[in-house]
Formats: sequence, structure tokens, C-alpha cells
Amino acid sequence: MTSDAPKRVRVHHLQAAKDKGDKLVMLTAYDAVTARIFDEAGVDMLLVGDSMGNTMHGYGTTLPVTLDEMLVAARAVAGAARHAFVVADLPFGTYEAGPEQALASAVRVMKETGVAAVKFEGGRRVARQVRALTDAGIPVVGHLGYTPQSENLLGGPRVQGRGEEASLRLREDALAIAEAGAVAIVLEMVPAPLAKEVTEIVGVPTIGIGAGAGCDGQVLVWVDMAGMTDWSPRFSKRFGEVGAALAAAAKAYADEVRAGTFPDDSHSFGA
Ligand code: KIV
Repeated sequence: MTSDAPKRVRVHHLQAAKDKGDKLVMLTAYDAVTARIFDEAGVDMLLVGDSMGNTMHGYGTTLPVTLDEMLVAARAVAGAARHAFVVADLPFGTYEAGPEQALASAVRVMKETGVAAVKFEGGRRVARQVRALTDAGIPVVGHLGYTPQSENLLGGPRVQGRGEEASLRLREDALAIAEAGAVAIVLEMVPAPLAKEVTEIVGVPTIGIGAGAGCDGQVLVWVDMAGMTDWSPRFSKRFGEVGAALAAAAKAYADEVRAGTFPDDSHSFGA
């Protein structure tokens, strides 16, 4: 969104941004410290992504993330954000069984965290869940293309929607969840021309990650965006070298403690 962005981003502002052609900016956040920094930087949407399984917990995948872990992180992020529209992922195993399971999980997230919406993966197979939550007054963000919770079935992080049949499936999935009430759709690792086409045919905003510039907005995993790790995906970009800056700060601290120069008098209490 641009400088006339609202004080608090609400669901109708997402649609208004698409209609005006304003790009939506989304970043992941998993704790209050980073949420406050990103919120104050003017990020429109914060995603408490189950990528926390990879980035924060060292699980290697998103699959082990539990609803209880999500509740803790989502409460921290929602509590810190003053401006951004906060979205929490429904973890693997908390919505696939059907609308009842999805509703029970989403109600816990909404009651116990203060986020504005939930996100979960899938197209037509979860359209009934999208409808049930929407009918209950819970905004849903969809997630299509590469869906990390299905990484075992998809054979790892691979571009999705290549070829006529796969691209048709993706278009139909997007239309189905938009029709069921999704307020936005994340498109992950989708060929740029297909993501642009989906963006043009669905009424709701699309938010791309590895899906080219034709989406209505972009999302990145914050540790990739900030350069916290040695490796980041090809579609991501390092907008800083925060990992190196943090390591330098830790080393400077260690050096001063070992040299006996920290704490000095100005960082100590007198009698
Ligand atoms: O969990 C997450 O961070 C996500 C993004 C990759 C879109 O779902």
C-alpha cells in the first residue's frame, strides 16, 4: 500500500489495494520483537507462518508445527502489531479432516491470539473449509502452488502449475477458494505468467512468493529477506545482512566481556 495506507489494515483494505493497483507487502513474523519492527516499517500484512518450523524451531519442515506452538507465536505477533493485518497459518493436521475440524482450530486461533485471519493450504479439496470459516465470520487466506505441508507428495520444493493440465488445475483451485470466500490467495512457486493470469481472473488479491511480479502483493520469509542465513531460495532476495550484523554484535560483546571492558562504570550501579 502507499503513503495513504490506513492506520490499521483491515480486510476491506486488501481488496481496495487490489482494485487500486497498490501492491500489498507481507512478511512472516514469529515473535513480538520482529513483528514490531516490521509493523513500524509499514509492512501491510504479517504472516505467522508455519515456516517457523524451519526458521525458528529447526524442525526441517513445517509438518511438526502444532496448533499450540502457532497460538503462542500468533499471540505475540498480533499483540505487537499496531498497523498490519495479521494472518496465522493453520498447521498441518488441524483442518484437512473437514469443515468441523477447521472451524474448531480457527476458532481457537481467533479467540486466543487476536489475529485478523487464518491461512491454510489447498484448493478445491479445502473449499468446504473455506466456506465454513467464512460463514462463521473468519477471514481465510488461501495458499496454492507449492504447498509445503504437502512436500512429501510434491517431492519437495518444486515449481507447480507447469503444463496445460497443472495450470488448469491451479486456475480452478484459485477460482474455487475465491468463490468459497477466501479474502486473498498466496501463490507459491508458480510460473510468473500463470500467477499473473490467476491474479487477473480471481476477484481477490493474490500474494506471490516465487510467483513473479504480476501478483497483487508479495510475501517473503523474513529470515530470507533479512539475510539471516547462509542460504536462501532462488526466488528470494537478501535485502540486508542482518545475520552477519548479529554475529558481529555477539563477537564484540564476547570480546569486551573477555577483556574485562564490559561492563564499565557507565553500565554498572554505584553503591
Ligand atoms: O509459512 C509460511 O511462511 C508461508 C509462506 C511461505 C507464504 O506459508
